[in-house]
Amino acid sequence: MSSISAPTGSRMAYEDFKARGLKLNMQRGQPSDADFDLSADLLTAVGPDDVVTPSGVDVRNYSALVAGLPEARQLFGEYLDLDAAEVLVWNNASLELQAHVLTMMLLRGPRAGSAWVGGNPTIIVTAPGYDRHFSLLEGLGLRLVTVDMQPDGPDVDAIQRLAAEDPSIAGVLFVPTYSNPGGESISPDKARRLVSLQAANPGFTIFADDAYRAHHLFADDRDSTVNFVRLAAEAGNPDRAFVFASTSKITFAGAGLGFVGSSAENIAWLGSYLSAVSIGPNKVEQYRHVRFLRSYPGGVEGLMAAHAKLIAPKFAAVAEILDRELGGTELATWSRPRGGYFVSLDTALPVADRVVQLAGDAGVSLTPAGATFPLGKDPANSNIRLAPTRPELADVRLAMEVVAACIKLASEEYLAAS
Ligand SMILES: Cc1ncc(COP(=O)(O)O)c(C=O)c1O
Repeated sequence: MSSISAPTGSRMAYEDFKARGLKLNMQRGQPSDADFDLSADLLTAVGPDDVVTPSGVDVRNYSALVAGLPEARQLFGEYLDLDAAEVLVWNNASLELQAHVLTMMLLRGPRAGSAWVGGNPTIIVTAPGYDRHFSLLEGLGLRLVTVDMQPDGPDVDAIQRLAAEDPSIAGVLFVPTYSNPGGESISPDKARRLVSLQAANPGFTIFADDAYRAHHLFADDRDSTVNFVRLAAEAGNPDRAFVFASTSKITFAGAGLGFVGSSAENIAWLGSYLSAVSIGPNKVEQYRHVRFLRSYPGGVEGLMAAHAKLIAPKFAAVAEILDRELGGTELATWSRPRGGYFVSLDTALPVADRVVQLAGDAGVSLTPAGATFPLGKDPANSNIRLAPTRPELADVRLAMEVVAACIKLASEEYLAAS
């Protein structure tokens, strides 16, 4: 830390930005309107003449199809590399499905193992990670233990150790592909170790939130995806893995479809609970997605390539401006994701909260410092999540110049005070 030389003149550059009365937002992990426009035909994909699906389901009526329309299970099975019987398609939020699976495990115990009830169940999470994972687990009263997110996925050595020693360790929740916030993807080797590790709790479960499974930025430089359900079966632990995903960043955020893949037995187990919660999910929405995604040129893959064209220049702008403004200063490091929705930046000095405050005062809204750690507490006060997808490209550039100016000023202030 002492090798960092204090930047000078940072106050003046910062005040110049502040005087411009900016109003920019780099904290929302949301698609842009141009992304939404790609799916405009979704809104009219089912008309009055299309209310009965090829499998004979009238999408207007109740039905006993708690695991979703057969056509939707088939489509999202293909997306997850699974059979239709291994997929349950629900309503618009995969987070809701994560909550349902966790709640059922809390109340009844995992299908394949001993009950969690009364056992002070603990879930391993990666840090930095996704704030809504932390609030979901905390809200359900689960204990959290963090392990590091490494460039090739979660620290599996630490997970192995924790799971082997402690029967209260009930599972691990993480993002396997283009993680939030750093963009890391798990290596096939680590995935294999996770599905086969020896756990003291026989119900040890992998909750893989594959929200960014298809979200590559570059056609020719993609991370490989992992099929946890197949790998778990091969390892002799067929019920160990649940893989969650949704169309929130494929079609419409908050108005898409969430789905989950697991063993056919686990899907039946989940369906038995959900059928008490609801007569079934929204079949009109499911059928609209099937018709729209099946007819989009190139299907889901074609649509994701169109998103990549819109999103990749924004990620390139973040990297370009951080390189230009902070490269060689040793004031910060940042991720260079090949996909997903976020860039993770770490300040070298413990100034993340001050950077976020300075940026906010200059009209650039950033994810609150600490949000990427359980209970909102980043022990190093250094991690900042950047979300470049929603703003226009010119605004991303400007916002990043402000962020760089704030990092220089906060670092200068810190070094002057210490
Ligand atoms: C890792 C991750 N999982 C889940 C979600 C939300 O997904 P959904 O809209 O399907 O609930 C997000 C949204 O940003 C996310 O980053």
